[in-house]
Amino acid sequence: MEEHVCPWWLGYALASPLRRIGQEPASILAPWVSQGMIVLEPGCGMGFFSIPLARLVGASGRVVCVDLQAKMLAGMERRARRAGLSNRIEARQCAADSLKVEDLDGTVDLALAFAVAHEVPNPDRFFGELHAALKPGGRLILAEPTHVSAEQFDRTLQRAAACGFGPPAPVAIRRSRAVVMER
Ligand SMILES: C[S@@+](CC[C@H](N)C(=O)[O-])C[C@H]1O[C@@H](n2cnc3c(N)ncnc32)[C@H](O)[C@@H]1O
Repeated sequence: MEEHVCPWWLGYALASPLRRIGQEPASILAPWVSQGMIVLEPGCGMGFFSIPLARLVGASGRVVCVDLQAKMLAGMERRARRAGLSNRIEARQCAADSLKVEDLDGTVDLALAFAVAHEVPNPDRFFGELHAALKPGGRLILAEPTHVSAEQFDRTLQRAAACGFGPPAPVAIRRSRAVVMER
C-alpha cells in the first residue's frame, strides 16, 4: 500500500457538490444506513459522505468521523454546522498508525472507509481496529478510487480478510472499486 496522504487542500475538491455527478452519497449509502445507527467513518476528509450519513442516521444516530488531518476535520465540522447536524457528528483526530477508537469496540453498526485504505501505513492495524469497533454482523463498506489497481485492491481485501472480515460483496460505485464486508 502507498503511504501518500491526500493533501488537506484537496479536501475542498473532494467535498465539492460536482462530485455528486456519479457519486451521489445518499443513494450510495441509503441501502446500508438506517435511523439510530452508529457509523464510523475513518478518513472522512471534509465530509462529502459524513453530512449525508448524519442525515441518514437521524436524530437518534451518531457518526464518528476520524481523520489524520486537523484541517480536513475542520472543513467537515464547518459543513456539519452549516447543515445543522453538528449534534450527530463527532470529529476525532487520529494518529497515522491508529484510529484511536478503542472506546467504540463492539458498538458500531457500519464503517465507511472511502478512498482512505491506500493511504494508511499499517493496514493490518487499520482493519483490526475497524473489525473491533464493529458489532458482530456490522458492516464495512470499503471503496478505493480506480487509480488503486485491481491487484492492489485485491491485496487490500486480503488484509481485511486476515483481520476477520467476511467475504467481500461488490458494491457498484462509479469511479471506484468497492465492496461491503461483514464482521
Ligand atoms: C482521498 S481523502 C478521502 C476523503 C473522504 N473519504 C472522501 O471520500 O471525500 C483521504 C482521507 O484520509 C485521511 N487519512 C489518510 N491517512 C489516514 C490515516 N492513517 N488515518 C485516518 N485518516 C487518514 C486523509 O487525511 C484524507 O482526509
